[in-house]
Amino acid sequence: MCPEALEQAFHKYPHAKAVIVVHLYGLSADMDRIMEICRRYNATVIEDAAESLGTYYKGKHTGTIGDYGIFSFNGNKIITTSGGGMLVSNNEEKIAKARFWATQSRDPARHYQHSELGFNYRMSNVIAGIGRGQLKVLDQRVKKKKYIFEYYKKELGSLTGVGFMPSVEWNQPNFWLSTITLNGSVRPVDIFEILEKEKIESRPVWKPMHLQPFL
Ligand SMILES: Cc1ncc(COP(=O)(O)O)c(C=O)c1O
Repeated sequence: MCPEALEQAFHKYPHAKAVIVVHLYGLSADMDRIMEICRRYNATVIEDAAESLGTYYKGKHTGTIGDYGIFSFNGNKIITTSGGGMLVSNNEEKIAKARFWATQSRDPARHYQHSELGFNYRMSNVIAGIGRGQLKVLDQRVKKKKYIFEYYKKELGSLTGVGFMPSVEWNQPNFWLSTITLNGSVRPVDIFEILEKEKIESRPVWKPMHLQPFL
């Protein structure tokens, strides 16, 4: 998220209640600047750290800087429990409320009683066990992903028009997904087709939400 664009968005929507910062591809956003702007506008900050478990921003884990952080343990992430995720916050009261909603909003009554809408989002102990095992290999995964990124950069970095993910001083990425930008005469689709012939998967990065037909 670009802090300048965020500031402009607040000029347009000064009463926005919350900002979701997505740490894309394992790179951290500039959280100090984003937090300063959001505090000024009294907006709650939710960090979407689904892709950035193991990434540090100025020595702090992404997902632990805003008011809330979310992580994904989906199968394509740096570690996985096969599915599911995690919400974190330093606000114990709010986390207790989220846990209440996630466990069907059961009132503290003898009978099953619900006074609020609830959800069945609890993580089973089996899945949590897999997650705890996976956490132990997180550092190894980050090292491997870094190796892959550096390999691509070494081999492709000198080609005209090929841009790599930016390296900035605040960021210690987990290199979850190596992406490149193409700037020039080569179309991404030409590269996809050549790689496909070699049975190598490649694809465009995420389509922006506002371009999704449904929205
Ligand atoms: C940035 C981001 N947010 C949210 C999600 C959703 O996570 P989940 O698949 O665990 O619901 C993903 C990927 O799956 C993601 O990459």
